Amino acid sequence: MNNLKSVDLSKSYTTNEESIDVLHNINLTINLHDQIAISGNSGSGKSTLLHLLAALDTPTSGKICIDDVDISSFTKNELSKHRLENFGFVYQFHHLMEDLTVIENILIPGQLANTNPSLNDDAHELAELIGLSHRLNHLPWKLSGGEKQRVAIARALINKPKIIFLDEPTGNLDDKNAQIIQDLLFDISNKHGVALVAATHDNNFIKNFKTIYKIEDKTISEI
Ligand SMILES: Nc1ncnc2c1ncn2[C@@H]1O[C@H](COP(=O)(O)OP(=O)(O)OP(=O)(O)O)[C@@H](O)[C@H]1O
Ligand SMILES: [Mg+2]
Repeated sequence: MNNLKSVDLSKSYTTNEESIDVLHNINLTINLHDQIAISGNSGSGKSTLLHLLAALDTPTSGKICIDDVDISSFTKNELSKHRLENFGFVYQFHHLMEDLTVIENILIPGQLANTNPSLNDDAHELAELIGLSHRLNHLPWKLSGGEKQRVAIARALINKPKIIFLDEPTGNLDDKNAQIIQDLLFDISNKHGVALVAATHDNNFIKNFKTIYKIEDKTISEI
């Protein structure tokens, strides 16, 4: 995969009789090595846009293209293969599997993709990179918020994605942990060319990005 594109992407949510237009005609291209922050007020549609771009949700109109192919033309299996191989996703509240240990959580996407013969070694290397190799067999509830977020990042990286989507990765962290996460992400992106696409309110985090967008009135513009 070389690029991901949204073309006239719109999303409305319909609840009962009411319809809420959240995004209108969003055109955005993400290339390898990009470092993109998406800012905007609470409720402006940042999470909605990340979910659409990562093919975790479907648009009301418009399309998402991988290398200029509309992903709606993919079968369910093709789409999940693309997602597993190309995308990593870090949710705002990390969504770790609470019954699985640190190392088991990191391994999950790799086991689903089932293509990497050195999966175990890679998972241990990532655990080392996030500074948690001494906590491999701990369950998530024993970890701090910052540590959980680091595990979620390692899990998002295990399949060596081309793009990592992050929904407020520093949102619930103190300054020190936010800095650790920030350094880790830019280090990985700069070294391996992984594109970062992050929804964030955090000005300290935002200022590191090469490209900063703002969502306002359902549209997106570069700032
Ligand atoms: N599943 C849903 N059903 C109905 N409305 C939704 C749904 N998901 C989101 N919305 C609405 O869409 C709008 C955008 O939500 P979204 O979560 O994308 O905003 P956000 O910019 O990520 O906000 P925050 O900064 O608070 O995380 C909000 O008005 C929200 O209430
Ligand atoms: Mg959000």
